[in-house]
Amino acid sequence: MAKMEAKTSLLDNMIGVGDMVLLEPLDEDSFINNLKKRFDHNEVYTYIGSVVISINPYRSLPIYSPEKVEEYRNRNFYELSPHIFALSDEAYRSLRDQDKDQCILITGESGAGKTEASKLVMSYVAAVCGKGAEVNQVKEQLLQSNPVLEAFGNAKTVRNDNSSRFGKYMDIEFDFKGDPLGGVISNYLLEKSRVVKQPRGERNFHIFYQILSGASEDFLCELKLERDFSRYNYLGLDSARVNGVDDAANFRTVRNAMQIVGFMDHETQSVFEVVAAVLKLGNIEFKPESRVNGLDESKIKDKNELKEICELTGIDQSVLERAFSFRTVEAKQEKVSTTLNVAQAYYARDALAKNLYSRLFSWLVTRINESIKAQTKVRKKVMGVLDIYGFEIFENADNSFEQFIINYCNEKLQQIFIELTLKEEQEEYIREGIEWTHIEYFNNAIICDLIENNQTGILAMLDEECLRPGTVTDETFLEKLNQVCATHQHFESRMSKCSRFLNDTSLPHSCFRIQHYAGKVMYQVEGFVDKNNDLLYRDLSQAMWKASHSLIKALFPEGNPAKINLKRPPTAGSQFKASVATLMKNLQTKNPNYIRCIKPNDKKAAHVFNEALVCHQIRYLGLLENVRVRRAGYAFRQAYEPCLERYKMLCKQTWPRWRGAARAGVEVLFNELEIPEEEFSFGRSKIFIRNPRTLFKLEDLRKRRLEDLATLIEKIYRGWKCRTRFLLMKKSQIVIASWYRRYAQQKKYQKTKSSAITVQSYIRGWKARKLLRELKHQKRCNEAATIIAAYWHGTQVRREYRKFFRANAGRKIYEFTLQRIIQKYFLEMKNKMPSLSPIDKNWPARPYLFLDSTHKELKRIFHLWRCKKYRDQFTDQQKLIYEEKLEASELFKDKKALYPASVGQPFQGAYLEISQNPKYKKLKDAVDEKIIIAEVVNKINRANGKATSRIFLLTKNNVLLADQKSGNIKSEVPLGDVTKVSMSSQNDGFFAVHLKEGSGAAGKGDFLLSSDHLIEMATKLYRTTLSQTKQKLNIEISDEFLVQFRQDKVCVKFIQGSQKNGNIPTCKRKNNRLLEVAVP
Ligand SMILES: Nc1ncnc2c1ncn2[C@@H]1O[C@H](COP(=O)(O)OP(=O)(O)O)[C@@H](O)[C@H]1O
Ligand SMILES: [Mg+2]
Repeated sequence: MAKMEAKTSLLDNMIGVGDMVLLEPLDEDSFINNLKKRFDHNEVYTYIGSVVISINPYRSLPIYSPEKVEEYRNRNFYELSPHIFALSDEAYRSLRDQDKDQCILITGESGAGKTEASKLVMSYVAAVCGKGAEVNQVKEQLLQSNPVLEAFGNAKTVRNDNSSRFGKYMDIEFDFKGDPLGGVISNYLLEKSRVVKQPRGERNFHIFYQILSGASEDFLCELKLERDFSRYNYLGLDSARVNGVDDAANFRTVRNAMQIVGFMDHETQSVFEVVAAVLKLGNIEFKPESRVNGLDESKIKDKNELKEICELTGIDQSVLERAFSFRTVEAKQEKVSTTLNVAQAYYARDALAKNLYSRLFSWLVTRINESIKAQTKVRKKVMGVLDIYGFEIFENADNSFEQFIINYCNEKLQQIFIELTLKEEQEEYIREGIEWTHIEYFNNAIICDLIENNQTGILAMLDEECLRPGTVTDETFLEKLNQVCATHQHFESRMSKCSRFLNDTSLPHSCFRIQHYAGKVMYQVEGFVDKNNDLLYRDLSQAMWKASHSLIKALFPEGNPAKINLKRPPTAGSQFKASVATLMKNLQTKNPNYIRCIKPNDKKAAHVFNEALVCHQIRYLGLLENVRVRRAGYAFRQAYEPCLERYKMLCKQTWPRWRGAARAGVEVLFNELEIPEEEFSFGRSKIFIRNPRTLFKLEDLRKRRLEDLATLIEKIYRGWKCRTRFLLMKKSQIVIASWYRRYAQQKKYQKTKSSAITVQSYIRGWKARKLLRELKHQKRCNEAATIIAAYWHGTQVRREYRKFFRANAGRKIYEFTLQRIIQKYFLEMKNKMPSLSPIDKNWPARPYLFLDSTHKELKRIFHLWRCKKYRDQFTDQQKLIYEEKLEASELFKDKKALYPASVGQPFQGAYLEISQNPKYKKLKDAVDEKIIIAEVVNKINRANGKATSRIFLLTKNNVLLADQKSGNIKSEVPLGDVTKVSMSSQNDGFFAVHLKEGSGAAGKGDFLLSSDHLIEMATKLYRTTLSQTKQKLNIEISDEFLVQFRQDKVCVKFIQGSQKNGNIPTCKRKNNRLLEVAVP
């Protein structure tokens, strides 16, 4: 895999050419077209050898992700498509591995992407260098120094919303392992004029807006500030807000960054107090006041602001006020004080503001350096990153002192570039043992000299003018230039008498023009002297030194009267010259890496490529020069191994493998290809190719050869694939066929086998059936013979026995059957017998008709039997009672209505206990026979029919009537004298006892009695009579009968009576002949 990747090259998949050195033909148009083509395809980076051209895309491209960092990490420079990471990686690796200090020089005009590029480089290095808590803290501090410096040193300009208004050079220091240790920042030429005045459409430094937007109310109050931008004269009103910039949020970021970098809280506080003081200085206004001596004097209009500034900074108000009104000039122990007019007062105010701010900025840089300083004394490796404004050319002679200075700096950078590039080139040639051929190129040393020469240089002359006593103006300076530089071939001016440019109307009189290496620039001379002087009246610096605010005091050390220095402070120009010289010296010791930033359009717009604008930048960046220098000797060089690896397919000897040394292989290869000898040179480790055309020819050949190879590989591969496939198919066919055959054979065999079995089974079946049929036939024959024999025997036997059977067989069967039936009948009857109760009327149904009479008889017999059984249980006593009851039934049943009521009553006979009752003792004694009945009856009076109670006694021989009370016997009748007993058929107890005429008792006539137990008495009387006299007593039952009363016969008549007296019948004597009984 790694090997595969190693084979990739910048030359693969190129859009246009990735390296301008290979551009053919090389001219401005092709250069721009190549850039445009690449830009349109999102390729914003292009190389010139090892220089990276970067075109600002003005939109975020997905090419800075951590994956991209990994992709470029540890890869050779030309391996991948051009990228700022490739340059960063190259620089970092040669720093780490080859111990070469590096510097990365980023140039380009404002808005071209320099600052972004420097941040990308730093972030890449941070990403790939060592890790660990300590290292990370260093990295973080280094990275966080950016937001702080940007807040104080950047501003929105027309070209760039976040334009750096200072030059910055940062040394990042590493240990031998490549871990970062710390850093040192140098700043150059802050554009301090911006503090007091900004061009249209631009802003002051970010920090002012950030404080006002982002600080809390309390903090603002502390700083004596108000949130409203319009309150401050130093804040240009237009474009105070920038689209897409959140000042308040940035303020928080800056404070946070300051904290990370290591600012103490009181330091931060002091810094913001100084910023507030600067802002408030702008609000101090002056008014003119005439003095007696006729001189103008200025007065502060409103002292309130001054008072607040003094409070904020701890300066005595009167001291500051005086410093704004007077100027003291000291010369040779003499002090001369002059008043300031209004214009001078404003100048002094602005000078103070500018100085305060620029010194604060320098202090910040120093303070940051303190924090990020490497903590060890060990030898460090250094990587410097220079982010400095490139050439600045304004149209219409708007270029002033600042542009002059900046362009001087760029001129110096170009010089160092040329020197270093050529030097490196030369060194490489020597290293590689190649003969050094002289290279034609433009050397800008002459321009540098024009500016910086100690005697005749423009800067020197400017200083001279500034120091010269007498009236000094910008014009006198220009005059001087005209005298000294008139003949210089890069200096142009109309002023000089014999000037070549006397008639050049494009060059105004107040201007001079310098032909820089990157083009002509016209400078407006106005302001040069003032800006170079950069004057701050001593009174002001002394006033500042007197402040109790420690930071402000520290910013103005020259204000200390003890250290008074009568010498003028160095001019801005000479200061800058000195710092540039130091920078150059610094850079010269390092290995340079260039990033040339180009701005594709003026509108900060994505996708817009303004060719004219780009052309202009290419010119002043001297990029074509760059390519030429690079190509002066050999345009392309490559180590032998990768070269052979890349082109070995172009020659039979080297393809596919070269067994000898790589160099010999390349020699063979180039000979074979018949490349002209002047076109290449063999170095020690590299092949040098003079012209890109040769390289492209090689590339072309390679491409064609690759196509052929591809075809070949494809051919072989296809053939191989077909053959393999065919072989596989063949093999599979055999396998399938063998399997199939086996299967078919198996199938066939199984079929044959099964048919054989079928046929076999049929045959066996047929045979078996045949046998079975025969056996069956045989068996039937046997059976038939047996049956015939049996029949025959039967016939024989029957014929023999018929004689005995025929006579009485029928009768016998009949009898037998009958017997069986009767037997069965009785057996069944036995089971069906009803209960033994005499009153049970159930009897089973008759089963056969012919048994009808038997059945009835049986029923009768059974009934008699069970009755007898029932009777046999009775005692003699009971028998007697039943006999009596039977007698009564025979006598009265269906004759007397009273009878049914008597059936249930037991016959007791002796109702009266004669023997027990002492009352009847006499009566008892009188009767010595057994008493059959003893009962109380009513005797009906014969005369009136009224009833009287009498005791009625029946003995064996007599009937007795006795008085109930006394027991005296009233009448005694022997049974033989009783002839008849009469009674009604009705439900009454009356009865008459008829006596035999003429007998002893018959004197008074018959008795008419009434009793409740009539039936019993009549029955017993009948029975006793029968047993004594052997005669049946006549019992007459009739509703009319005659009774003998003495001589009279009276008729007793029973009638249906009313129920007046309840149920008791009433008896009444109607007349002599009739006694009526009313029965209810
Ligand atoms: N590589 C880049 N990718 C995306 N935008 C960029 C890139 N470089 C620059 N820019 C854009 O251009 C603006 C100006 O870039 P900056 O680096 O501040 O310019 P300079 O420092 O050259 O004045 C940035 O604010 C950013 O919006
Ligand atoms: Mg910048």
